[in-house]
Amino acid sequence: MKVNFIRLLLVLVALPASAFASPADTNAQAGEGALLTPAPSSAPRVNGPKVYGIRPGSPFLYRIPCTGLRPLVFRARDLPAGLALNPQSGIITGKIARAGNYQMTFFAQNSAGVGQRDFRIEVGDRLALTPPMGWNSWYIHYTHVTELTLRHAADAMIASGMVDYGYQYVNSDDGWNVKPGANDSATANPTRDARGNLLPNKNFPDIKGMVDYIHAQGLKAGIYISPGPKTCAGFAGSWGHEAADARRFAGWGFDFLKYDWCSYGDHAVTNTLTYFQEPYRVMSAELQKQPRDLVFNLCQYGMADVWKWGGELGQCWRTTGDLGLEHDTDLPGFYHIAFRNAKLADYARPGAWNDPDYLLLGWIGGWHGSHPTTLTHDEQYSYMSLWALMAAPLIFSGDMDKLDAFTLNVLCNAEVIDVDQDPLGRQGRIARQTPEEYVLVRELADGSRAVGLFNLSTKPRTVSVALAAIGMSGHPLVRDVWRQRDLGPCPGELRAEIPRHGVQLVRLIPDTH
Ligand code: GLA
Repeated sequence: MKVNFIRLLLVLVALPASAFASPADTNAQAGEGALLTPAPSSAPRVNGPKVYGIRPGSPFLYRIPCTGLRPLVFRARDLPAGLALNPQSGIITGKIARAGNYQMTFFAQNSAGVGQRDFRIEVGDRLALTPPMGWNSWYIHYTHVTELTLRHAADAMIASGMVDYGYQYVNSDDGWNVKPGANDSATANPTRDARGNLLPNKNFPDIKGMVDYIHAQGLKAGIYISPGPKTCAGFAGSWGHEAADARRFAGWGFDFLKYDWCSYGDHAVTNTLTYFQEPYRVMSAELQKQPRDLVFNLCQYGMADVWKWGGELGQCWRTTGDLGLEHDTDLPGFYHIAFRNAKLADYARPGAWNDPDYLLLGWIGGWHGSHPTTLTHDEQYSYMSLWALMAAPLIFSGDMDKLDAFTLNVLCNAEVIDVDQDPLGRQGRIARQTPEEYVLVRELADGSRAVGLFNLSTKPRTVSVALAAIGMSGHPLVRDVWRQRDLGPCPGELRAEIPRHGVQLVRLIPDTH
């Protein structure tokens, strides 16, 4: 078919504002385009990963993410023995005793229709077969995190609709336990009880109750500590207590552990690979012994090429320093983190992910209170697109009490998230990098490819790429992922007019003729 080339000029157009029911857009930048993500339809759309890993006999907990009018009624075809689905909440609980692959289909029904999605549970030794999605306290609460903030974050994850797109982890970062030498009444106490059990600080009076509360809503809970004597912010670490701490975290019911190097480096310093691996090897072995699954997040900023061995010990590894400390004069820090992380595409695979750090969007913290991000709208769409193309964990680290319409529009686009969560688990590769342009291409399980065209320059720019340069031929159908609409067949070159620091994210679906 001969195609009018103009149709393939993927011009950014303003669409009607999304109908997200959320607070006013408090971080809008004057003069910028409208919301890209269209409002979800009233008919059910079942979202979330298509594949899920768990160990035999571990507690299974999954809340089926689904948009559409409430009330919804859920059911499942071929749900494995040992699991039960609550038809009103869509929460599945139970245990699967035997290893193997279990294929099932979820259905969700409301007055506007029925949605369905295939889902495979792989019961074996792999977890996090798609990148973890959730929220972390660090860039909004720092060391002032409390049990109440985590409970509120869980509530907000549901009320805002984030949960309907697959966000599920509610993770505390540093600051939840006791700080040796501190003199304020909340954090200055014994770090452990007489039997060596780690103690939370007074801001966490009922940590088990908090985890139960998060679980009761079908969500998961995460915790943080360091292998050294102290965490990065000076709180008690696991040094010499690894077995007890792993038992403690599992006993409280946690589902995720971030293990942050920090003061480990002050001890027994050598430069051998064994030295860099040792603390993670020790804690990984302790986590394996627990009767529940804890996703293990290695946080050591990319030392000793952690991407080469992190997947043997955990499910994701930070590849760089802290994104919040990455400042640059030309481009915002997330681009520089992405440029480094994208080079490591060969190492990502299901159950083993490069982690370029959190999504610092919306209202983020400062030591003196929170403020809206300084990123423009286009930069925020670019940020999310980069993370989705890089199969990065999608962990939002902004204010859950100030989720405005724009922030939710960036975080909650089902098709963008489908790119991130694609079951093939291939990270996007760099097809072009110049000072003005960046192109990432990601192979997807259905044979299509996601392509991100990024304009790094300070002026609007037409970015184009030949299909041959991204491993495609014929006339694939072009789908605009952010706007969720088809743009027609592509004649041989993909081309888009892109605003300053903006992105065009498309999916190229091979034509079958
Ligand atoms: C390090 C980590 C951050 C955060 C802080 C907490 O800097 O990289 O992500 O966990 O420690 O102190």
